[in-house]
Amino acid sequence: MRSTLVLPIDPVTPDPAVIEEAAAVLRRGGLVAFPTETVYGLGANALDAGTVQRIFAAKGRPASDPLIVHLADCEGLPQVVAEAPQVAYTLAAHFWPGPLTLVLPRHPQVPLAVTAGGPTVAVRVPAHPVALALIRATGFPIAAPSANRFGHLSPTQAAHVLDDLEGRVDVILDGGPTPVGVESTVLSLVTPVPTILRPGGVSREALMAVLGEVQVAERLFSPEAPLPSPGVLTKHYAPRARLTLYCGPREAVLHAMREAAVQEIGRGQRVGLLLAEEDLPAFTGLQVVFQTVGMGVRLDEVARQLFTALRALDHANVTVILARDFGATGLGLAIRDRLTRAAAGSVINVK
Ligand code: TXA
Ligand code: MG
Repeated sequence: MRSTLVLPIDPVTPDPAVIEEAAAVLRRGGLVAFPTETVYGLGANALDAGTVQRIFAAKGRPASDPLIVHLADCEGLPQVVAEAPQVAYTLAAHFWPGPLTLVLPRHPQVPLAVTAGGPTVAVRVPAHPVALALIRATGFPIAAPSANRFGHLSPTQAAHVLDDLEGRVDVILDGGPTPVGVESTVLSLVTPVPTILRPGGVSREALMAVLGEVQVAERLFSPEAPLPSPGVLTKHYAPRARLTLYCGPREAVLHAMREAAVQEIGRGQRVGLLLAEEDLPAFTGLQVVFQTVGMGVRLDEVARQLFTALRALDHANVTVILARDFGATGLGLAIRDRLTRAAAGSVINVK
């Protein structure tokens, strides 16, 4: 085991000396975890195949799951993408820096380790001063998956990274909690119609306003459909406890959740509930662990707190988690996607 150095850094005006220390580690072929606006990334030099391999080893991630390449601005695109259609630049102008990842044809200088041997590469410009300063300081694009062990919840705080990767990453830049809280939207531009492979921080509605037509990979909500991309597994973003997601009209959902909680408690389970603040009165008198994620209508709050809440339930050693759905509008789609995958198919549609 190597030791992991945690360096605190101001998320708004990062200290150039701290950035330089982390950049030097990356230049030497090391791994640096850093905050982006979505979640913390586990970064390495994207153009160095050997170093990229270390990301997979640190995460315990299969080589079949491709990585996102992070750029400081869209001028960096020709370095990593063979050809970018005009629509890529239009999207970049609207959403970069920001939580949108574009899947485009791979440039030959991008190691195949990054793209999992595939002909396309995923790229984005993150909207976080620390991430941008780090990329600029190194002068090379940074390949970074979320900085968690494979299949675990993505980290939205430096402490989450340490929990998962202590001794496996050289430096963690601790810039505090990440503002968006769910990962970027992954949009393929190599399909006939632009296709959302993973809903995330940029909503489907926002993409439609710019593109007109956008598809959502069918697989997202029907487990039988083919995989949209190699790394998109059904069970992912998962806490240790068995999670069930409840979808449907709110009153009916809360009623069904209360009944299920009573039953599980009766079976000797330790039950955790993932709820909005306003849902609490529906569960008075129950011996359960509550985690709230803000008001249900504030989807930005829900997204920001989602992974921290699920990690907290794990730390509370619950054996069963019952979670409510937050709809499919705006950030709701990304929230539903993460909860659906955490549930690994255990989704109940309440009428
Ligand atoms: O917000 C984010 O996207 C964070 C921050 C660190 O940027 N990164 C992140 O990376 O979530 P990761 O590796 O955990 O998820 C990347 C997703 C995976 O589902 C992967 O399969 C998909 O993007 N992906 C990467 N390259 C791809 C490609 N060439 N074609 C299709 N999907 C790709
Ligand atoms: Mg991930």
